[in-house]
Amino acid sequence: MYTTAFLDIPPLRHAAGEVTLPGSKSISNRVLLLAALCHGTTTVHDLLDSDDTRVMLQALRALGCSISGEQGQPLHITGLGAQLPVKSGDLFLGNAGTAMRPLSAALALLASVHGGSFHLRGIPRMHERPIGDLVEALQQLGCPVSYTGQAGYPPLQIGNGVRSGLNLAQPIRVRGDVSSQFLTALLLALPLVATQDIHIDVMGELISKPYIEITQNLLARFGVQVQREGWQRFTIPAGSAYQSPGDIHVEGDASSASYFIALGALSSSDGGQKGIKINGVGSSSIQGDIRFVEAAEAMGASVTSGPNWLHIQRGQWPLNAITLDCNHIPDAAMTLAVMALYAQGTTRLTNIASWRVKETDRIAAMATELRKFGATVEEGADFIAITPPASTAQWTTGSIHTYDDHRVAMCFSLAAFNPAGLPVRIEDPKCVAKTFPDYFETLFAVSHASPQDIPVICIDGPTASGKGTLASEVARALGYHVLDSGALYRLVGLAAEQSGLSTESAALADASQASNVAQVARQMRIAFSDGKVWLDGNDVTQALREERAGMAASRVSSLPAVREALLHVQRECRALPGLVADGRDMGTVIFPDAPLKVFLTASAETRAARRQAQLLSRGEKAILEDLLQALKARDAQDMSRTHAPLKPAEDALLLDNSRQTIDESMAQVLTWWQGKQAF
Ligand code: DC
Repeated sequence: MYTTAFLDIPPLRHAAGEVTLPGSKSISNRVLLLAALCHGTTTVHDLLDSDDTRVMLQALRALGCSISGEQGQPLHITGLGAQLPVKSGDLFLGNAGTAMRPLSAALALLASVHGGSFHLRGIPRMHERPIGDLVEALQQLGCPVSYTGQAGYPPLQIGNGVRSGLNLAQPIRVRGDVSSQFLTALLLALPLVATQDIHIDVMGELISKPYIEITQNLLARFGVQVQREGWQRFTIPAGSAYQSPGDIHVEGDASSASYFIALGALSSSDGGQKGIKINGVGSSSIQGDIRFVEAAEAMGASVTSGPNWLHIQRGQWPLNAITLDCNHIPDAAMTLAVMALYAQGTTRLTNIASWRVKETDRIAAMATELRKFGATVEEGADFIAITPPASTAQWTTGSIHTYDDHRVAMCFSLAAFNPAGLPVRIEDPKCVAKTFPDYFETLFAVSHASPQDIPVICIDGPTASGKGTLASEVARALGYHVLDSGALYRLVGLAAEQSGLSTESAALADASQASNVAQVARQMRIAFSDGKVWLDGNDVTQALREERAGMAASRVSSLPAVREALLHVQRECRALPGLVADGRDMGTVIFPDAPLKVFLTASAETRAARRQAQLLSRGEKAILEDLLQALKARDAQDMSRTHAPLKPAEDALLLDNSRQTIDESMAQVLTWWQGKQAF
């Protein structure tokens, strides 16, 4: 997951490959609640691991539910069997509407029957998302529910500690035209108390009907058959009770699929590999947003599918502009708004008033952000109309504000396919954690950019100048990959010695010895993971750090054949979304076209003192004078060799960090970098 302040996505050219989606948020949180309320133990497979499911799990544990299972493995949940073992609690539910609404309803009913008192709250935005219609419905039932903040919104005080009983005789009236989650909440909760037939009457035109179908479908999996007359009246039969289905699988998230369906529709194919295959969700999905496929097809996507997979290719190009009532796919429809940038004409998405009460006011947010690309956008109370820039020259780009809304962040990443070849900045990329923590990694795994469009920041300089630390800090701030090229030469030195080859200068002067070392460089199997370095399956992290390894590296690095052997390894590190590379010749030889090259220096005395402090802190012996001499010897060797000697690239910016802290050097590099951006 990217936890940086922003993520710059380079212009993307095409996409192809296979993706597996995280579990559906709507199904995950419903299944968690049902498994927690039912009789028996449920094993939940492929559950979404995200902010919204995490707050739900936390709340269920706080309510006394037993939940076990390793990270990434199926969860075993033993239900409360409609009982309430923990009678009070303060539950924090983040910004998860799918936790707040159904938990409020379930706890209100259980607290009325068994006695109980709970406070339910979330982040500030949660306290701006309406819940009054649900509260009114619960109050009609006789549940003591009150607002502890603003009337009509969470936080809520549920129950008053005493058994108050319920009035189930009258049909419960609930509004269906603001959010379908109110009805879902009642449908999930009422089977807990179905001592008699319970009727729910929906007031107003029910929106987002497919989400109600998911609810009904899952209730049936847990043994409760809800009867429905049209979309106006729902009946929970007397004697309904939740029973665990044993095992349950969560489908991939169909709303998350929308970004990859769009990706398939947008991108021209990459030579042999064609289109995007999506695993985990397909034609037999119970999620309403699967109907996004039809909308994407109407815009020109070419789609084939199986029960749990989809395959999407570009069909019509440019895309067709469409006018579509999006009431049935409110979440996925945001993706259509970005696809509209690639359509000919004006795309009009209507009946989307619910966008205004989601994670943010999504109509306003989409309009504001789409305009940053040069689109003409009209917005109304319940529609948005998008006309793309008239020509490639009229495309612009911008820094996309994401309003703590995962879907804004995800759908705007697709703007990186713009024909003008402009990068796109996504602010606060970690907001995707709500439903798809690895969204950008998944996107980058199937997307391709021209190598020259993938930014590289080169940080070259002499030994012990602090390049490594600076490079990893800069990479961390930008979410970029790191290439520690020195480690590669150190690995060659170590691998050569392990193969019984001497790395002494005299030995390397022999041509066959040199070619054997180069052979080792070509064949060594290396891996970097969790801050560790592996050579042919062995952890060599510590051995690589030693001064001896540095000197051997310095010697083998003077061999042209070794440098040649490592050239491709290094260039292949230029991967989305960007790279920070440190070494001696990053700017001069490996990435001569890098947009920013920094040559880091510090006086030999400063570097020797830093090295000494570093060694002493590791409990190793370190004599300043010896270190200074060794350092000067290494500088001389690195600067005097014929091939790729250490020197600043002509266009490098010099940074003497003798008197700077790491933070100051980092701020300087980031300022230089920002100065080169289009944002
Ligand atoms: O940065 P370092 O101390 O880990 O590098 C070890 C040696 O590797 C260094 O003395 C010279 C060599 N090297 C190189 O020749 N080119 C690079 N890009 C990086 C390191």
